[in-house]
Amino acid sequence: MSASERTVATEGTTAAPATSHTITLTINGAKKQVEVAPWTTLLDLLRESLHLTGAKKGCDHGQCGACTVLVDGKRVNSCLTLAIVKDGAEVTTIEGLSAGDALHPLQQAFIDHDAFQCGYCTPGQICSAEGLIREKRAKTADDVRELMSGNLCRCGAYSNIVAAIEEVMGACTRERDGRGNGQGRHAVGGGRGEER
Ligand code: FES
Ligand code: FES
Repeated sequence: MSASERTVATEGTTAAPATSHTITLTINGAKKQVEVAPWTTLLDLLRESLHLTGAKKGCDHGQCGACTVLVDGKRVNSCLTLAIVKDGAEVTTIEGLSAGDALHPLQQAFIDHDAFQCGYCTPGQICSAEGLIREKRAKTADDVRELMSGNLCRCGAYSNIVAAIEEVMGACTRERDGRGNGQGRHAVGGGRGEER
């Protein structure tokens, strides 16, 4: 393994503590071995050590959803998730949702529906929406509102966020039912993460 593939996560320091453990994660499709302290959260690992700053630290207490990422396809609050317990998992952050220059359908829909103002909550909203659509539990706008209630938006862009999600949800349903144009690339299946 090259030095660049090994990363030490110790919250604010680059020196590995004596208690660090090596774990393997697949992050946005790339397998990485990282050393983490037992108390390192997935959010701190992503932001501080791997420099994936899309997931935001809003409350750091599981109350705002700004830190939402997908772990094994399920949405989780990464501020409440210890990295060490996710050894072997697949993690997808907002940086890994798009396919090269092609935006993910939810990213495009958020733009089309003007579903953000400051944008601070947006990465978490989009990752959470991706998890929600995979869960296939939301059928109506009210369902979307309820099942996205863990993602707060201080700018109050809620109605536009729901509209954006509904659009992509509808396209996924049509695709699943064989009424789509076959162009979609939205994943379906999976359940809601325990942490959310
Ligand atoms: S930072 Fe607020 S829920 Fe994680
Ligand atoms: S767009 Fe500003 S917090 Fe949601």
